[in-house]
Amino acid sequence: MSSSSCTYIVSLLFTFIVFVPPTSARQSTGACFTSIISFGDSIADTGNLIFTLNNSHRVNRLPYGETFFHHPTGRFSDGRLIADFIADALGLPFLAPYLPHYDGGRSFTNGVNFAVAEATALNDDFFNEKGIQLDIKNISLDMQLKWFKEFLSFMCSSKEECEDKLSSALFLMGEIGGNDFNYPFLQGRSFEEVRTVVPLVINAISSAITVVIKLGARTLLVPGNFPIGCIPAYLSFFHVSNTEDYDEETGCIKWLNEFSEYYNQLLIKELDHLRKMHPHTTLIYADYYQALITIYQSPEKYGFQSSPLVACCGAGGLYNYNFSCMCGELGSTVCVEPSRHLSWDGVHFTEAAYRKIATGLLQGKFTNPTFTETCALLEPFGNLKFPRNTF
Ligand SMILES: *[C@@H]1O[C@H](CO)[C@@H](O)[C@H](O)[C@H]1NC(C)=O
Ligand SMILES: *[C@@H]1O[C@H](CO)[C@@H](O)[C@H](O)[C@H]1NC(C)=O
Ligand SMILES: *[C@@H]1O[C@H](CO)[C@@H](O)[C@H](O)[C@H]1NC(C)=O
Repeated sequence: MSSSSCTYIVSLLFTFIVFVPPTSARQSTGACFTSIISFGDSIADTGNLIFTLNNSHRVNRLPYGETFFHHPTGRFSDGRLIADFIADALGLPFLAPYLPHYDGGRSFTNGVNFAVAEATALNDDFFNEKGIQLDIKNISLDMQLKWFKEFLSFMCSSKEECEDKLSSALFLMGEIGGNDFNYPFLQGRSFEEVRTVVPLVINAISSAITVVIKLGARTLLVPGNFPIGCIPAYLSFFHVSNTEDYDEETGCIKWLNEFSEYYNQLLIKELDHLRKMHPHTTLIYADYYQALITIYQSPEKYGFQSSPLVACCGAGGLYNYNFSCMCGELGSTVCVEPSRHLSWDGVHFTEAAYRKIATGLLQGKFTNPTFTETCALLEPFGNLKFPRNTF
């Protein structure tokens, strides 16, 4: 980003501080959380990547955004993301992306989104040294934390004021880290090599959590990884004729799902450790793996079509995924009923899938501890927007 645009950002945030009293966020909602602060990658990006790319990205075209917003928003889905459903259930507006905040006087009263599609937990240096190509530079978790600190320097004027504001915020720490494995796996690196990256990613996430806790965060949601062996991009890249690689029930690639489970186990262990170090904070683990595998096992029970491994939007092939012709590019087509698909574009999920995951999380399935233990007020909201028995 050029220095002139940085100057503009500074002046705009400053204007915001002058005109909006700092307590307005808390007064306006009266719920458990006054704001959401989000870090992550394409699973949570609400417009940061397309901004940094000057809107020239295939997700800035329909059918992206077709389902709910009816136009592309920079979200890597047909509609809303997990973070959008969580915000909605908490009575908060959808998360505004941080980077394009010069645009039209958007304020961050109820939170901010630092998540950028294609971001990694580890810094660029790590991948550069290993010869692993990244799609975009300088958007790692460390960089997102830098933006967060920059943001704080405009949002509050003393350590105490910052701590006070952040204590009532819900932090979404990811999903982040998935790309740290996607890049090497999909560039042909071996299971053994990618496995060595796992502890480093856990460490990076743990450090980031520690940083935000020191700045005042009190409630953090930390998602694990998805069952990557069920994702069309992986299924296509690692396709083999040997049926032994595949789970009989789901058709997912077993060793890739075991990789996700291994990563999630280490993350859970690290969260236990962090809880001991920070007894006054609530660290909620979000089990994205279980939330999805349950659906892959019986898709029809949850309203999805019987072949959940086929992407809704793509350019053909066994899983409707072709790396050379992705959703949004000329030659790709979109399915008629995205709400019956889990995979949107072969890498990311549909709004319907994200809704199921968010519903499960908010109802206390797939989280530890449950949201309702953290936020007694959530239940009415949850009931209002997420009828029970959806799961
Ligand atoms: C963004 O794209 C517009 C239109 O194509 C162009 O005029 C502008 O110079 C670009 N800006 C940057 C920062 O690349
Ligand atoms: C990445 O960020 C670092 C530190 O802020 C900066 O020195 C470097 O020039 C940046 N690289 C690119 C490619 O933007
Ligand atoms: C993938 O797309 C490319 C470019 O359109 C095409 O040449 C290729 O045949 C496609 N592959 C499959 C398996 O459909």
